[in-house]
Amino acid sequence: MRALTWHGRRDVRVETVPDPVLKEPTDIIVRVTSTGICGSDLHLYEVMGPYLDAGDILGHEPMGIVEEIGPGVTELAVGDRVVVPFNVSCGDCFMCDTGLHSQCETTQNRDQGTGASLFGYTKLYGQVPGGQAELLRVPFGNTLPIKVPEGPPDDRFVYLSDVLPTAWQAVEYAAIPPGGTVTVLGLGPIGAMAARIALHRGASLVVGVDLVPERLSRAARDGVKALDLRRHGKDLGDAVRDLTKGRGTDAVIDAVGMEAHRRAAWSRPRSGAWACCRTPSARRSWRRRASTAWARCTRRSTSCAGAARSPSPGCTAALPTRCRS
Ligand SMILES: NC(=O)c1ccc[n+]([C@@H]2O[C@H](COP(=O)([O-])OP(=O)(O)OC[C@H]3O[C@@H](n4cnc5c(N)ncnc54)[C@H](O)[C@@H]3O)[C@@H](O)[C@H]2O)c1
Ligand SMILES: [Zn+2]
Ligand SMILES: [Zn+2]
Repeated sequence: MRALTWHGRRDVRVETVPDPVLKEPTDIIVRVTSTGICGSDLHLYEVMGPYLDAGDILGHEPMGIVEEIGPGVTELAVGDRVVVPFNVSCGDCFMCDTGLHSQCETTQNRDQGTGASLFGYTKLYGQVPGGQAELLRVPFGNTLPIKVPEGPPDDRFVYLSDVLPTAWQAVEYAAIPPGGTVTVLGLGPIGAMAARIALHRGASLVVGVDLVPERLSRAARDGVKALDLRRHGKDLGDAVRDLTKGRGTDAVIDAVGMEAHRRAAWSRPRSGAWACCRTPSARRSWRRRASTAWARCTRRSTSCAGAARSPSPGCTAALPTRCRS
């Protein structure tokens, strides 16, 4: 089959590689029909190189048609259409039972001190071959893939794999009060979706910040008050306060990404909620910075969200963190 493989910093190639095969009785093979490229893939393209080997297959946002099933698969049949969540989780352990799929005890990478395995990611997350490929081996065929109906095009479903549940959970963690306000930093797929979800769930004002004109205008079309970081720079905080009677928004969602310089972001909220979608490797330094930047927070709760199993609560391998004072 053809697949996208990693070879080094800023070096990925579409190559011919061996087809995946069933290894466990509950495995399935999916013929991928659509797959996303995530902001998290950009980390692999740049800074996460030390945790990859040449030839690793990337991609964690696939959907497709079941091509083959193991003898233990009872919930799917060949020909079914499925979305594959990016977290590899068994659906059956203590953590999965409590909705914390990103900490699945069956696939957790304890030697790395991280979380459950992910498709198409690094040695920190199991080095599982990914979905930017023609074929994908998916374990836990009875519980992991989400069966979707025939009919609507792939783009009606493919975001269930990562973007939609990640963004939904960011909004969930931000705990915007009814009719409240939120600032979303970064208007890539995650930030744009989080902004739309916040509006959908009743926020009265969503302020979105980015520096890419197309992303700013898309957000503005969606009803977001879009602020261009290039224009506001260090005065961004004032711009947000001007929109909120001098108070700042009730909540902030960071959907920027770990490589970006976040100085502007740190000056943003006053005492609202903060939800964060980022790769877990940024956790420690983020926590350090969080404790400094959020010295005013009197209560801080930190937890790993569950996996992307559905657009309802359940999220990711990242560390959504919430501070409320
Ligand atoms: N489950 C998860 O935890 C999960 C899932 C998906 C993505 N993510 C993470 O979420 C982040 C966003 O993902 P994405 O796909 O939207 O990425 P993206 O790179 O497409 O979007 C990030 C956006 O932030 C903007 N930006 C950069 N610096 C900024 C600044 N200082 N202020 C405001 N905006 C700034 C960029 O212009 C870009 O539009 C990434 O770090 C990704 O790894 C986490
Ligand atoms: Zn992703
Ligand atoms: Zn599990």
